[in-house]
Amino acid sequence: MFNAETIRKEFPILDTCIYGKPLVYLDSGATAQKPRRVIDKINSLHTSCNANIHRGAHYMSNACTSEYEEARERIRAFIHAPNVRNIVFTSGATASINLVAASYGEAFIRKGDEIIVSQMEHHSNIVPWQLLCQRTGAVLKMLPFNEEGAIEMERYEQLLSEKTRIVAITQASNVLGTMPPLRKIIDLAHAAKAVVLVDGCQGIVHAPVNVEELDCDFYVFSGHKLYGPTGTGVLYAKEKWLEAMPPYMGGGDMVGRVSFERTTYAELPLKFEAGTTNYIGMIGLGEAIAFLNTLDLPSVHAHERRLLAYASERLNAIDGLRIYGTVPGKCSIVSFNVEGLHPLDVGMILDKTGVAVRTGTHCAEPVMARYGITSMVRASFALYNTIEEIDALGKSVELAIQMLR
Ligand code: ALA
Repeated sequence: MFNAETIRKEFPILDTCIYGKPLVYLDSGATAQKPRRVIDKINSLHTSCNANIHRGAHYMSNACTSEYEEARERIRAFIHAPNVRNIVFTSGATASINLVAASYGEAFIRKGDEIIVSQMEHHSNIVPWQLLCQRTGAVLKMLPFNEEGAIEMERYEQLLSEKTRIVAITQASNVLGTMPPLRKIIDLAHAAKAVVLVDGCQGIVHAPVNVEELDCDFYVFSGHKLYGPTGTGVLYAKEKWLEAMPPYMGGGDMVGRVSFERTTYAELPLKFEAGTTNYIGMIGLGEAIAFLNTLDLPSVHAHERRLLAYASERLNAIDGLRIYGTVPGKCSIVSFNVEGLHPLDVGMILDKTGVAVRTGTHCAEPVMARYGITSMVRASFALYNTIEEIDALGKSVELAIQMLR
C-alpha cells in the first residue's frame, strides 16, 4: 500500500512551520509542492549544464536539447499520446487553451458557429472562448450543472447541433471535484462533428489519462499542479489539427526557412514553440513525471480517494457546514462554507493554525453564481497529505467557528 509518510520525506517544504505550527498544505489544487529530485534537477541544470536548446553546436546545448526532448517523450508516454509530434510545450494550461482558441479558431470558427463550455469551468477555459466569439461572431453556449455538481447531460444533448464546432470541458472541476463523463461527452460531440478540448489540470493529478482511448481532440494541463515547476504546460492535440492550424506565435525555432518573400514553418511540434521556451522548466516537468513513474499510481489515487472520503465525513459532521460538489467519483477536492461565516475569515484562522487552504472564487465565478454565493473555502489534497492533516483541518474549522460565532 502507498505510504504517504515515506513520500513526504521527498518534499523538503513539508517540514516547514508556519507561525510556529507544522505546515498542513491543503492547497495543491492551486499548486503542488515539488519533490527533491525536481528541485535538484533544476538546480543542477542552472549550476552545471545550461545552454539554449535546438541552437548550439556545443556540448551543453546538445545535452539540454536531449533532456528537453526526453521530457517530451516521458510526457507523451504518461498521457498515452501516439507520437511526440502531438505534444506541444507551453507555459501552462492557460497558454495551451489560448493557443487552441486563437489558432484552431482562426482556421475553423466562423460567425454563427457555436462553442459549448460547461458552467463548472475555470476562467481559463471560458475567457479564451469568449474572446474567440468576440473576434468571429461565434456564439458561446453554457452547459449547466445541477445542485450536486453533475453536468446536465440531457441539456448537453439539447445544446449539441450541426452548429456546434467546439466543446470545452474539464476532466475534474477545480471547485467541485466533479469528473464529468468525458467518454460520453466526447462521443456525442464527435457525432455532431464537433471537436473537444479537455482541461486536465486537476484531473491528471488524480486519475490516469489516456488521450488516445479518450479520443479527445485537445488535452491541456499545467506542470506545476503535477509536482513540476511553474511556467510549464502541455498541449496535446491530434496531429491532423496541429497540421491544419496556423502558428500561434512567430519567432525563432518555429520556422523552417525565413526570407522576406516567404517563410516556412518547422515540423510539429516546434511549429508551436516560438522563441526560447522554458526548457529548464520542461526538463523539470519530465523529472516530475519520472518521479511519478517510480510510484504505483493506482495506489496513489486510492490514497487520495481515502483522504477525500475521510475529509467529507469529518467536515460533514460539523454543524452548519455545507460541502459543494457531492457527485460520486469526484476527485480529492473539498469546497465548503460554514453558515454565517465569511470564507475569508475561516481561511485566515486556518492559516494561523498552519493549515493552508484556498479561499475566494477559485477562478470560477460562474460556479459561485450557480450557488448564489461569492466565495468558498477549498481544501485540495495531493499524494503527500495524511489523515492526520485532515483531522487538523477539521479541528481548525471547529476553532474558527468557536472564534467567529
Ligand atoms: N487554477 C488554480 C486553482 O484552481 C490556481 O486553484
